[in-house]
Amino acid sequence: MTPDPGSVMRHRKRRHIDVCLTEPVDYQTLTTGFERYRLPYNALTQTDLDAVDLSTEFLGSRLSAPVLIGAMTGGAELSGIINRNLAAAAQQLGVGMMLGSQRVMIDDAVAAASFDVRGVAPDVLLVGNIGMAQLQTSPASVLAKVLDRVGANALAVHANPLQEAMQHNGDTDFSGSMARLREVAGSIGYPVMLKEVGHGIGAAAAAQLADCPVAAIDVAGAGGTSWARIEQFVRYGEVRYPELAEWGIPTAQALTEVKALLPDVPLVASGGIRTGMDAAKALAMGAEVVAIARPLLAPAVESAAAVADWLQGFIEELLVCLHGCGAGNLKALRKHGVTPA
Ligand SMILES: Cc1cc2nc3c(=O)[nH]c(=O)nc-3n(C[C@H](O)[C@H](O)[C@H](O)COP(=O)(O)O)c2cc1C
Repeated sequence: MTPDPGSVMRHRKRRHIDVCLTEPVDYQTLTTGFERYRLPYNALTQTDLDAVDLSTEFLGSRLSAPVLIGAMTGGAELSGIINRNLAAAAQQLGVGMMLGSQRVMIDDAVAAASFDVRGVAPDVLLVGNIGMAQLQTSPASVLAKVLDRVGANALAVHANPLQEAMQHNGDTDFSGSMARLREVAGSIGYPVMLKEVGHGIGAAAAAQLADCPVAAIDVAGAGGTSWARIEQFVRYGEVRYPELAEWGIPTAQALTEVKALLPDVPLVASGGIRTGMDAAKALAMGAEVVAIARPLLAPAVESAAAVADWLQGFIEELLVCLHGCGAGNLKALRKHGVTPA
């Protein structure tokens, strides 16, 4: 008997989680590039650390800090626990959260429950998620329904041609996807954010987005988790094409390139954001918020408190960064900018 597509996808999601928890899935040679910049330090700062204000607005929602939990998972049974722990921590800290791909919700009603987080996170900015490939095959009304069902505030569309090319039976036909993105972004009735999955949106992609009504772009650059690496572990049990696993646009470069071409589009810096200092540099370079994915996976398997602990440490470091460069809030931080290291 051939297994139903829903259970195949649930199994794949579970393999992704297991590989992410057990294998070396970070880029081995490529870095984010943030190490090439320094946040200017000011011994005569006039700020009060206790009064530094990290609050901001993103996609129409107020955030206590410019931080999103990156898109991770959904579908597999464990995903429900992971998503609820992430969401409860986001609610506690007043940060935003992106869900993992909701494709499984379209094909498989069993999987839908793993995305139900509004019960524990009634107030968070919640961003739904779908792949470019599903834009081709699903009408906007079906996509809107999966967003309605989870109570999302916005939709992230992930463009991931390299990941799909490495995946067994991946979706590899992206022809016409740009026109479809334009159509969906203009008609779905939710703000649409475009993202990669860790190989980066850079100048070439940004140039194609000039007349596309996206509400934000998450550059999701290289230097952190490599999905071309993960998919090779899942498919072959080893990395057979190391150069493909190391391919992408480093996050700092992606951010600079997209900012230069699309100065008015709000940007998320993600891909290898690991410390409050990484975040401070990205925000000083013009990102509105940062997102963190894989470092939160193991804590999310454990508990909401473990996720909140991790994020609290990250936010505390970010607060000290603003204080130490003399910025009382994010607007002031942006004025300070960064200097070459
Ligand atoms: C376990 C796991 C599952 C992921 N699933 C998705 C997904 O369904 N949709 C998506 O857009 N990105 C997904 N991502 C990619 C992340 O959102 C992020 O872009 C990427 O991991 C790079 O960020 P990082 O270096 O902080 O992990 C996933 C990442 C992880 C670790």
